[in-house]
This record gives sequence, structure tokens and C-alpha cells, in this order.
Amino acid sequence: MDWGLANRLNLIIRPETGRTVMLAVDHGYFQGPTTGLEQPRTMLPPLLPYADTIMLTRGVLRSCVEPSSATPVVLRVSGGTSILRELSHEGVATCMEEALRLNAVAVAHSIFVGAEGERESLLNLGKLVDEGMRWGMPVLAVTAVGREMVRDARYLGLACRIAAELGASVVKTYYCDEFEKVVAGCPVPIVIAGGKKLAEYEAIKVTYNAIRGGAVGVDMGRNIFQSEAPVAMIRAVRAIVHEKKSAGQAFALFEKLKNAAHA
Ligand code: 5RP
Repeated sequence: MDWGLANRLNLIIRPETGRTVMLAVDHGYFQGPTTGLEQPRTMLPPLLPYADTIMLTRGVLRSCVEPSSATPVVLRVSGGTSILRELSHEGVATCMEEALRLNAVAVAHSIFVGAEGERESLLNLGKLVDEGMRWGMPVLAVTAVGREMVRDARYLGLACRIAAELGASVVKTYYCDEFEKVVAGCPVPIVIAGGKKLAEYEAIKVTYNAIRGGAVGVDMGRNIFQSEAPVAMIRAVRAIVHEKKSAGQAFALFEKLKNAAHA
């Protein structure tokens, strides 16, 4: 593996633990000012010290994150659709030169297996991997799930495997029953999105179950930045991902940190 690609991957999946806590704040590229993400400039600084990487668009990076930031950037490069239309017709909205210029450690691109835009999203992923390999830039494939799709092991296993076959270095998907089957069928590391906001204990349990099922970490957004105590939440997630804590221990940490923050 090219040194640059390997180095970038090590800045995402930490060598000390083989795991990662990625903070996802790219939601606005298709759904606008998402609750909790209205002002990235103020909500990000308290969270960044606990994130191994931050996943966002070039627009938010340039306008809301200081160039002095030490948090590695995973750049969302697919786009071109919104919640008002069919999401699956995304294209590549940010070029590789921009990703390199912004010192990204990976580029993120969604695929829509089974949806109207399946073919274009998969071909775009392949082209992005071609470009990424040319420049030592890992590609994170995001298995977006179309409205009509069921988030089960069969569907997510299919989508993750296709992404890996097309050359993605890391795949982001969702936790599901029989998640270990999704991991077993995917030859590259998997991270999970948190999905819609859950009660904090539920989101912590999902994190714990995903790690136990073989995920190398999370690329979580709403369950962190929409939490009643976002810093407490990302620290609880880290306790599971990097410190081998149980869901109970991580939730106890969340409660302790939340109460201290509100004291
Ligand atoms: C949005 C995304 C998000 O990065 C992904 O869904 C992770 O965020 P969350 O934990 O809020 O689901 O890809 O298109």
C-alpha cells in the first residue's frame, strides 16, 4: 500500500487501538441546517478534541473550522441532490485536487444500492477510487439507504461488499441484527453511522454492539451533536471504541459528565 494512503488511513483508524471515533457533521449538504448543526463554528470546538476525524463538506470546513485544527478531515465529496428530490442521483461535487488542497485524509462518497441512482453512484465511486489511488487518498463509501430499502444484514451486507469490491478503503453502514454477517462479508474496515437520534443509552448500546460485531468504530453525527450533552456523549462513545468499556460503564460516564457539565 502506498505510504501516503497508509498514513492517511492511520490518521483515521488509530494504530494504538485499531479503532476510530469519527464525528460526522456533513448532513447539511443535502438536508440544510440540521438540528444541532445550525452553527458548526460554535458547536464543533468542544467536540473536536474527542474526535479522531471530522467528516464535513469543504464549505463548512473553510467557513467554520480554524486552519489550526489538528483534527484530521474526511471530506464529503458527493452531492448534488437535496431532500426535496431523489437523493440517489448524487454526483461528485468536490474534486480530488480540493481534497488534497484541504489536506483531507479521506474522501466520502455515498452509494445508493437498489435505488434509482444505483448505477451512477457505483460508477462514480469507482472513478473516485481511481483518482484516490492516484493520489494516495482513501475513499470512505457511505451506504446510504434508500427509503424503500430495509436496513437488514442482507441489504447492508450487499451494499458494503459492493463498496469494497469497487475499492473503498473503509465502508460506513448502519448497525443491524446479525451485524457480524455484514462484517464477515466485507473485506475492508466498517464503521457505523448512528442514524436518527436515539436515547443516549440506546445509542451507546448500538455502539457497543457494533464494536462487538466487528466494526472498527463509528462515524456518528446526530446521536452526538443532538445529545443533551454532546461532549459527554462523544466521550462515552470513545470509552467503548478506544477503552473497551461496556455499555453500562460508558453510560455511567455519560451521566457523570452530563451532570458535571450542567452543575
Ligand atoms: C449523511 C451522512 C452522515 O455522515 C451519516 O449518516 C452519519 O451521521 P449520523 O450518525 O447522524 O447518521 O452520511 O448523509
